[in-house]
Amino acid sequence: MVRRFLIMLPGPTNVPERVYRAMMRPLMSHRGPEFRELYARIVENARYAFQTSGHIFVLTCSGTGGVDCAVANVVRPGDKVLAPTFGVFSERMAEAARRVGADVIEIPIRWGSAPTASDLEPFFSRGDVKAVCIVYNDTSTGVTVREMPKICELAHENGALVLVDAVSILGGDVLPVDDWGVDVCVTGSQKCLACPPGLALISVSEEAWEAIEANQSRPFYFDLVRAREFYEKRHETPFTPAIPLFYALDEALIMLREEGLETRFKRHARCARAFYSAVEALGLKAFPEPEWRSNTVIAVRAPDGLSPSELRSVMKERFGILVAGGMGKVREEIFRIGCMGIISAREVLLTVSALAASLSQLGYKADIQEALGAASRELGLA
Ligand SMILES: Cc1ncc(COP(=O)(O)O)c(C=O)c1O
Repeated sequence: MVRRFLIMLPGPTNVPERVYRAMMRPLMSHRGPEFRELYARIVENARYAFQTSGHIFVLTCSGTGGVDCAVANVVRPGDKVLAPTFGVFSERMAEAARRVGADVIEIPIRWGSAPTASDLEPFFSRGDVKAVCIVYNDTSTGVTVREMPKICELAHENGALVLVDAVSILGGDVLPVDDWGVDVCVTGSQKCLACPPGLALISVSEEAWEAIEANQSRPFYFDLVRAREFYEKRHETPFTPAIPLFYALDEALIMLREEGLETRFKRHARCARAFYSAVEALGLKAFPEPEWRSNTVIAVRAPDGLSPSELRSVMKERFGILVAGGMGKVREEIFRIGCMGIISAREVLLTVSALAASLSQLGYKADIQEALGAASRELGLA
């Protein structure tokens, strides 16, 4: 029996009992009326979460599959694509575009900061950019691209589409897909939607359809034109979906609607502020610069001489709390806390206490009272 941990990872995250229970429902045919009703409800509620009236599909794959699907449907060999890179996931998105043969112009941005519209502007001068491939929240650095609306505007003024990896943020922070003009937006089930891993959700704008239909080398499993035909004709998926995960996603999206997006975003932002204040009170530093700090992934520099993996293992073994280490070139420098899904004062205060106690155990001077006081003030408890 696996111990039940408090999962403070930037995905997968804690799953509410209601969602776990939904997964236990009996299986059904994915070619029958019950499935059609389920899928139609999921799509309707996902439209609310994405704030779009356009097409949404649920893909049986992890978030990476969704990103691959977005890129491979829109981008053709030889297309010019801009890809700002500022962490592991933005590098992966650039790689996905290279794999379909695109001419990828990587725009390297210092890790810990986020791309801005002016970073991208010079690359549009020749008017030949097909798409911008951009990660809204790079989970590896805890950075959110706060200029996303400006970047979308700039891309559209220059005739380019915007493909967004929103895997670790959709449902946790503002992302009005239609208002901002995001052409293809991808998220994963296991992050801010508080669902188990295994599904990706993808939205497609009218403008993106033109590019997708013109692309004769669309992938087979991830062909979005085929997905649209199946949905429009009978509210089905082209291939066998992971039905128990669809049950879970259905319940998770119902919960998201019950709470409402505005309340949900405020809850994430409040908990994020509590984490950042507590970290500071412990004498630690957030990894990103203040203006780019994510509300869903809290990336923190480990104190000098303390290894993030040692800290993680004390938090796990002693307190049953899972936090993540660094990734890529900052693997040994930072640790990351997920602030997603069901995050509330309870999870924040438990994590802050365990973090402070674990730091003390490892010989680092950490004032648990200060840290809890700082978090509680942000949470409106003190
Ligand atoms: C921003 C981002 N993109 C893509 C992925 C990949 O998702 P998955 O591991 O579900 O394939 C992740 C996972 O952490 C992510 O955070």
